[in-house]
This record gives sequence, structure tokens and C-alpha cells, in this order.
Amino acid sequence: IKAFRAAIVHLLDDPGYDLHPTPPAVEYFEDGILLVEKGYVRAVGAASALLPHLPEGCELLEFPDHLIIPGMIDTHIHYPQTDMIASYGEQLLEWLETYTFPTERQFSDPHHAREVADFFLGELLRNGTTTACVFGTVHPESVDAFFAAAETRNLRMIAGKVMMDRNCPDYLQDTPESAYQDSKALIEKWHGRGRLSYAVTPRFAPTSTPEQLSKAGQLLQEFPDVYLHTHVAENKAEVAWVQELFPDSRSYLDVYHQHGLLKPRSVMAHCIYLDEADKQCMAETGAAVAFCPTSNLFIGSGLFDVVDTKTHGIRVGMGTDVGGGSSFSLLQTANEAYKVTQLRGNKLSAFQMLYLATLGGAKALYLDDKIGNFAPGKEADFVLLNPKATPLLERRLRHCQDIAELLFVLMMLGDDRVVSKVWVMGEEASS
Ligand code: GUN
Ligand code: FE
Repeated sequence: IKAFRAAIVHLLDDPGYDLHPTPPAVEYFEDGILLVEKGYVRAVGAASALLPHLPEGCELLEFPDHLIIPGMIDTHIHYPQTDMIASYGEQLLEWLETYTFPTERQFSDPHHAREVADFFLGELLRNGTTTACVFGTVHPESVDAFFAAAETRNLRMIAGKVMMDRNCPDYLQDTPESAYQDSKALIEKWHGRGRLSYAVTPRFAPTSTPEQLSKAGQLLQEFPDVYLHTHVAENKAEVAWVQELFPDSRSYLDVYHQHGLLKPRSVMAHCIYLDEADKQCMAETGAAVAFCPTSNLFIGSGLFDVVDTKTHGIRVGMGTDVGGGSSFSLLQTANEAYKVTQLRGNKLSAFQMLYLATLGGAKALYLDDKIGNFAPGKEADFVLLNPKATPLLERRLRHCQDIAELLFVLMMLGDDRVVSKVWVMGEEASS
């Protein structure tokens, strides 16, 4: 049993959009204790209440002037795109052809895949991200390498092999049948092993034939608790192309719906260009949106309306979408989410952004019984932030009135520099 003493903030519920939400949603201890037993949260509370009753033999670790938050959750990211982050000048369809496909080609080599996976997981941890929903490449080897690397670090991770059988280079093409067989073998090998889960991963509608999308639907029928992970309605040229490729579908989202791909544990990246019927469909099926503001700005895709989406009752988490996104940091992603939401005429409070990066992400992934906050019994993945990590932060924080303002300033000015330490299932992680 270990007791971690620092300031602690976490969410018990969706805090809504008020700057100062009513107490049940946000729990903040200026001097708090997080009590961890065998990798799970046993209690969280004020030091004044918990210190006198620490269990026999409990180790006390104290971090004055630091802030503990739950491990952050990245609901959409591509590990094979690590080496092409910050690629210049193109929007989605050209960006895929110019940068993405040649980069992903290298993942037929398992040694390369493992080397990138190890670096990628280290980078997630350096940024305070402890769980992610991750694209591999078309190569099954890419997913074996990723899951093996994640298992070594005991991380809770979701990943899958890309399915794509058209509109991409020959060297990256599978077939409906090979995608089905390869995905099935990976599910049987990895899904539910330790903290790992599998996601059936058709890249996006333009790169799968209707036959392949049907195979994806068949996998979801055969393995009802696996995830579905894809992209939808990210870019205007992409949306128009899908309309040409699937003339019988009411909308881009409807292509997936018609193939039985929308359900709880479906993670739909971007969702910028959905209409009213699409939004109702997302809400009714229990599918979730991965909101990827850094990527949506970096590759010029558009301005997602997170407030409107949530008002429709749709689950939303945050995603960096690296390599389309330009940062691994969910703090920086919150920064961009705030600015995009300003342009949509709404405001995101620091608590709402922390929610999106933690408990909201956990709900989007149907993992809120396991991670997302410090409710007793949850897996003890958490992050120690140093709010004074840079001279500017230290200076700005002298003028902070409360935790709402401190968190906001950390999101606007902070990144990996403010992440001091990370624990995974109660054990300190090395990046
Ligand atoms: N749509 C299809 N593939 C991709 C990808 O790799 N990244 C992004 N951002 N969008 C996509
Ligand atoms: Fe993506």
C-alpha cells in the first residue's frame, strides 16, 4: 500500500460548461492523499482526513507544490505515424498519399515496428497519457509489435490492424478475406489479454470495398466486445469522395451504419461534417467521437463543434491523431480544443477539458469502470504535474486564484515539460 500526497483533482461526472461547476462533478483536494493498494485506487481524500488513518506499513510519498491528475486518455492516435509528425503542406487525401502510405509501408518489418512502438509508448507516458486507442498499419506484425510493447509496460491499450483493400498503393493492400482472417487471429491472440483490447480498424470508407466493410461487421458480430475504430467526415473532399463511392448511402456515417459498424465501443475519429440525422444515429447507437483539434487544424480539416455534439448526447473523448496531429500532449490538445471552440462561439472550461481528457475519454471507450478518475477500485494510472515547470508558468501561476484557473493556465502554457512522473497500476513508469 502506498499513499501519494499532493494536490489532487479529478472528475466524478461531466462538469458541464460552467466555469465553477457544482461540487459533485469536480473533486479537488489542495492537500490530498491518493491511497493505492496492489495497483488499484483504495481511497482519495484530504490529507487531514486520511493521514491519521494510513494503514499499517503504508509508504508515504510526498510531492509538495505538485498536482496529481488521472492518467490521460488519447482516444485516437496512429503509432506508425510517429516518424512523420509535422509533415508540411498537405490536406488529408494528398497528405495520405505523400507522407502516410510510404511511412506505413515500413511496418512490414517487425523490428522496425517494435522500435517505433517502444518510442511511441515512451512518448505517450512523457506526456501523461496512459491509455490510447491506436491505429496500427495493414500489417498484422505492426499490431503484434505494439501489443507486445504495451504488455511489457502493463499499459491499458486498444489497437488494431488497418483494413484496406482499395484506393491505396498495392504494397499496403489486403483483401476482404485476408483482413478478416488476420484480424480474427489478432483478436484471438490479444483481445482481453491483461489490459489489452482489440479494435477492428477499417482505415476509412474510401479505402474499403463494401465487401470488406461487411467483413468488419461480421467480426463485430462474432466478437461483440471488441472495438471498432475508424475515421469519418474529417475533410470536405473526403466527404464528397465517399458520396461518389457509396451513392446508395444517405451520408458518410450511414456507410458505416449500413454495415453494422456503429455500436457501443465504436470510436469515430473527427466527425466534423455530420448532419442532424447522423448525430442522432451516433447518440442512439452509443458510438463515440474522438475530437482531434490539433490534427483538424494542422491538416486544415475544419472546426469540430464539441458543445453541440455533446448536447446531442453523444460520447466524446479527445484524440491527438498523431501524425495528423502535431503534438502528443493532451494538454496542448486541450489548448487547441479551447481555441477551436472559441471560433464556434462556445467556451470550454478547464474542468470540461480535463473531463474530455480523462473520465469523458474513459466513457467514450466504455472503460469508465476501470480508469478515468480516482473512484475506489479503479486502476491506479495517474500523473504528477509540476505547475511551476517553466519560468513563464511559475510567473503566471502567482496570479492564479483557484484550481480552475491553475488548470486552465497549465493547459494553455503546459505540455510534456509539466509532466514530472507517471504511475501505471501504482508503479512508477519510465519513458
Ligand atoms: N483518414 C484516413 N486515414 C487517415 C489517417 O491516417 N489520418 C487521418 N487524420 N485521417 C485519415
Ligand atoms: Fe487519424
